[in-house]
Amino acid sequence: MTTYEKAYEKLEKYGQLHVLQYYAELSEEQKEELLAQILATDFSVLTSREKETGKESEKGKIAPLAAMELDEINARRDEFERIGLEAIRAGKVGAVLLAGGMGTRLGSDDPKGMYDIGLTKPVYIFERIMRNTLDVVERSGAWIPFFIMTSDKNHQATTKFFKTHNYFGYNPDYVCFFQQEMAPASDYEGRVYMEEKGRISTSPNGNGGWFVSMERSEAGKKMHAMGVEWLNVFAVDNVLQRIADPCFIGGVIAENRASGSKVVRKAAPDEKVGVMCLEDGRPSIIEYYELTQELMDAKDEKGEPAYNFGAILNYLFRVKDLVEIMNHHLPLHVVEKKIPYLDEQGMFIKPEAPNGYKYEQLVLDMVHELESCLPFEVIREREFAPIKNRTGIDSVDSARELLAGNGVIL
Ligand code: UTP
Repeated sequence: MTTYEKAYEKLEKYGQLHVLQYYAELSEEQKEELLAQILATDFSVLTSREKETGKESEKGKIAPLAAMELDEINARRDEFERIGLEAIRAGKVGAVLLAGGMGTRLGSDDPKGMYDIGLTKPVYIFERIMRNTLDVVERSGAWIPFFIMTSDKNHQATTKFFKTHNYFGYNPDYVCFFQQEMAPASDYEGRVYMEEKGRISTSPNGNGGWFVSMERSEAGKKMHAMGVEWLNVFAVDNVLQRIADPCFIGGVIAENRASGSKVVRKAAPDEKVGVMCLEDGRPSIIEYYELTQELMDAKDEKGEPAYNFGAILNYLFRVKDLVEIMNHHLPLHVVEKKIPYLDEQGMFIKPEAPNGYKYEQLVLDMVHELESCLPFEVIREREFAPIKNRTGIDSVDSARELLAGNGVIL
């Protein structure tokens, strides 16, 4: 069978033959690229669309999962920090920066980490992240292996930016990039969009695939060869977060959990953050829109709200447990987005309003696959300044204010 025939057969199976609509117009090189993209693309995500659109997968039985709160953490801080620093110095802790997203809400075409939040001088988001990690490097005297996940859309720009800025003072021998996988984007009927005559429109497949992508890459090999046992995974956009925090690492190790999740006390019962809970006896994160009034009103034995701790996308995972769950199927989230595409006449359109779906797996769903998780309380004003938008809630403005409150000069 020729490559063309294989690609044709695959497209036919998934009802996507329109992908070859402009094939005859392409150069030989473009033809080859398109056929390779077709063979590499996982079209099966499109068929699960109907099942999950508009509602997430059914939830199991929800029960509270107690967080380790600040008073206990403060009482045991010395013990936790000692254990955490020991693990870091032994080279058992790595950091994983999830930076494959598109950052569409921020509205810049560059990778989100390249965004300059400075006022009197340039201060890049990536720079804040590396600075925060360097705090622990300086304290422990050990370089923390630092892995950065990018995607097809931003890999080149990101790696170049780090190089140009001398890795913001980090030791480049300990920085390792890997790329996540892409998923096709489609219209509401599940027909994939084309972004060029010879290219299917794709987007990063969500942050949930990070470990699988890492394992398939050189970064994964390096991580195992270095003897890393714990990975601290976090989002690019929280400019205040503590990375490889010895206290958090020590707490999770001391409590012998497979994972840990930094959490903040909710500001209001209906705050839009996913909260930690047990689902059918296993740790889980329930999204704010899935939280019923009954769950919102539920109280724990101290009379406090039982679902009161929101996850801030800063997790610690035990590597051997991640390897065990690697082949588990994570739920697919269908997200409505604006997807640039070629119309019937072959004109490139950048839509003003959402026009289809992207398909993503999320890191929060990994928590449910693991045996145990320690929700670990941190002080919101000290560790949570996410940048999702330019202004308003979770924005450049709110993050600047929070950074100033922590003595960071912008
Ligand atoms: P967000 O959910 O904020 O998505 O990602 P985003 O793509 O960055 O931004 P919007 O929604 O388009 O405005 C949370 C974290 O997960 C990473 C992001 O880079 C960010 O650190 N992420 C997201 C990935 O690494 N890959 C993805 O496919 C999606």
